[in-house]
Amino acid sequence: MNSSRLEMRGISLAFSGFQALSRVDFTLTGGSVHALTGANGAGKSTLMAVLCGTYDHYEGEICINNQPVGIRQPLDAKQLGIHLVQQEVDVALIPGLSIAENIMLDHLAQPGHRYRWHAIREQAKQALAQLDVSLNVRRSIDTCSLAEKQQILLARALSHHCRFLILDEPTAPLDAHESERLFAVVKRLQQQGIGVVFISHRIHELKAICDTLTVLRDGKLIESGPMAALSGEEIVEKMLGHELSDIYPPARPPLSDEIVLRVEGLHDDALLKAISLHLRKGEILGIAGLAGAGKTELCKALFGASKSRVEGGELHHQPWKPRDPADSVMRGLALVPEERRKEGIFIDEPVSMNLSVSADNSFSRWGVFGHRQAWRWAEEVIARVGVRARGPGQVLRRLSGGNQQKVAIGKWLRNEASVLIFDEPTKGVDVKAKTDLFQLIDALAREGKGVIYASGEFAELVGLCDRICVLWDGRIVAEIAGAEAREETLLYYSTGGTAP
Ligand SMILES: Nc1ncnc2c1ncn2[C@@H]1O[C@H](COP(=O)(O)OP(=O)(O)OP(=O)(O)O)[C@@H](O)[C@H]1O
Ligand SMILES: [Mg+2]
Repeated sequence: MNSSRLEMRGISLAFSGFQALSRVDFTLTGGSVHALTGANGAGKSTLMAVLCGTYDHYEGEICINNQPVGIRQPLDAKQLGIHLVQQEVDVALIPGLSIAENIMLDHLAQPGHRYRWHAIREQAKQALAQLDVSLNVRRSIDTCSLAEKQQILLARALSHHCRFLILDEPTAPLDAHESERLFAVVKRLQQQGIGVVFISHRIHELKAICDTLTVLRDGKLIESGPMAALSGEEIVEKMLGHELSDIYPPARPPLSDEIVLRVEGLHDDALLKAISLHLRKGEILGIAGLAGAGKTELCKALFGASKSRVEGGELHHQPWKPRDPADSVMRGLALVPEERRKEGIFIDEPVSMNLSVSADNSFSRWGVFGHRQAWRWAEEVIARVGVRARGPGQVLRRLSGGNQQKVAIGKWLRNEASVLIFDEPTKGVDVKAKTDLFQLIDALAREGKGVIYASGEFAELVGLCDRICVLWDGRIVAEIAGAEAREETLLYYSTGGTAP
């Protein structure tokens, strides 16, 4: 077995005065799966970016089997067999090209390459087969789901001679089943002697598949050693630097009977069938489901962001049916979409600008604030959702992935919406941020707003919701009172089980 040993020694990196990494040591051995964790902005992605040759101004040394290797540009890393599947998958894919072209991109870009399309497609297929995935490789990348895009990036890494593989939050876009599949692939790569870095905020999955653990906090190494040495709680404590109190808010007072939103017989042309649901004032209604069950479709349909038909409905005691986003915003609906990085934010604009445009980028109902007002408001949101940014002036691209999410969520807080729809809001945010987010949603409910909370994280639904509807194949197959809901029950219904 290949037992390469990769060492990063005393890595420091500053961005215009900001110390993102301070003398971090990190060791990865072939055949091990190494968990890299830490709160949003701790420096995980940056440390791995150094390893992949993204920066040339770091201090410290990188060695493979005790030999110093100069990694100062991406090609250096690739030639050493170091490959990365990025956190923001879209950044690494070329829109408009086919799946095959995206998988084989590095090969195609080689000077002197001769295009033999048949061979290229075959190689792309083989790379996918290593992952137990079969996709039509002629399809355009634009038609792929997030989970598929990730598989494509993974296949791209495996199309090379790969000794070290870095997976930056690979499970954030995946549901429980897809994650299991990925774990099986990781296990297989491990057996082949590849050293894998696995970045995740989900401690239980790190515990399940990683043998070694490194925790970063504020750009510094806090802990490194065997995974088994620490319990899940201890890991969270190391990440945060303090203990974490209960992550779910305490029980809310009993609900009023007032119904704020009701739909009957909602259909769309693709997936959703005969969906009827209602939402009470001050209620948090969970929508549970695995990927593909229709959670995102339902959220979009309710908000009018996709086409649907309903038999009947009411919103604030007025007859209503979803029309389009503009109409929804006017009637006090808000949607925090799932693909926030794509749909919710302006990546090259500062935090303040992102927070001051009206919540749905396409509307100007509230117009744009004055500069000073925007700045003050941004400071307030940064504090309220705990965004780790240097200030309202920082450009979003410079924030860590999790902190971009928080900004995308924060922009909805100004909205005077009375019904808020959250689609998988906790993807990629750390435990502390999750706790803040739950508190925020709980506070919205206590103020009397209605909240629809769609998620594949069943533990979160159980901890947070007053009532949970389970979606399977575009239908609501069960409705469970929050107090009686258990994770296993949700999993049972969401995999197509029906009541005994
Ligand atoms: N190019 C850059 N310019 C300025 N600051 C940067 C740049 N890249 C990263 N940072 C900062 O470095 C810190 C670490 O970011 P990094 O993306 O490594 O965090 P992370 O641990 O991956 O967090 P997450 O869990 O949110 O993905 C953050 O404060 C971020 O704002
Ligand atoms: Mg990151």
